Amino acid sequence: MADVTMRVWRGDEDGGTFTEYVMPAVEGEVVLDVIHRIQAGPAPDLACRWNCKAGKCGSCSAEINGLPKLMCMTRMDVLPEGEPVVVAPMRTFPIIRDLVTDVAFNYTMARQVPPFKPREPEADGTYRMQQIDIERGQEFRKCIECFMCQDVCHVIRDHEENKASYAGPRMFIRFMELESHPLDTDDRRELLRERMGLGMCNITKCCTEVCPEHIKITDNAIIPLKERVVDASYDPVAWLGRKILRRTKRSALEAALDAPGQHTPTRQEQPTRPVVSATDHS
Ligand code: SF4
Ligand code: SF4
Ligand code: FES
Repeated sequence: MADVTMRVWRGDEDGGTFTEYVMPAVEGEVVLDVIHRIQAGPAPDLACRWNCKAGKCGSCSAEINGLPKLMCMTRMDVLPEGEPVVVAPMRTFPIIRDLVTDVAFNYTMARQVPPFKPREPEADGTYRMQQIDIERGQEFRKCIECFMCQDVCHVIRDHEENKASYAGPRMFIRFMELESHPLDTDDRRELLRERMGLGMCNITKCCTEVCPEHIKITDNAIIPLKERVVDASYDPVAWLGRKILRRTKRSALEAALDAPGQHTPTRQEQPTRPVVSATDHS
């Protein structure tokens, strides 16, 4: 068989460049096999992350010919024959060395997802769920945390400054898994809108296209989440209800203050925020 030319990014946080390695082609190999042969031969110090070599640990994510892919699941024979195979680290995350990036950002955001908060069990001490609810959550639990959806998302790929306030598609599926769980009682919609940057996603579906587990990130997680957030924030009936509730609370407090023998309200009796102002549209 002919040789293959591998153009591999080498460097660290201070910079780097592509280095070419010409290797004998071996039938049936995936990109990770060739990277391993480079490590065993001309470049023993080439850094790459991998673990399972079976598409299940999510460690070997890289950009192959410009597209995020798992190196262990990308067959050499599907890449254009006779052309160099370009292997680069994921661009959205800081470089540690060569093909290894620092994906700590994703774990920082994961820690901000409020955990499962189940309701009280049935009288017999058990929980029951419909099969359809189990299957809905199961799609999201297939995630192998390869972070290629995060890598390709333009909200953070080209805008480092957005990372502080953007959870990203991997975390949005975690939110949806919890929000659609029939036993969960928490409401994460305001958090999604205010601090997790759901509104910055403009549903380009790039994340869905690169997911190796074929999770329908946009259709089954992001779009339903956006609908839920809109319902919570802009539903006119809910808005009116909140308004009336606040007025009722205020009237009760005012009546108490106007009554003979009124006293200085305790902290619990005081309204926690201005009741209605000209600029209050929430
Ligand atoms: S659909 Fe949203 S989350 Fe997915 S890549 Fe596009 S902007 Fe990012
Ligand atoms: S949702 Fe898909 S692309 Fe994103 S981290 Fe999970 S497996 Fe990877
Ligand atoms: S080595 Fe585990 S997914 Fe590639």
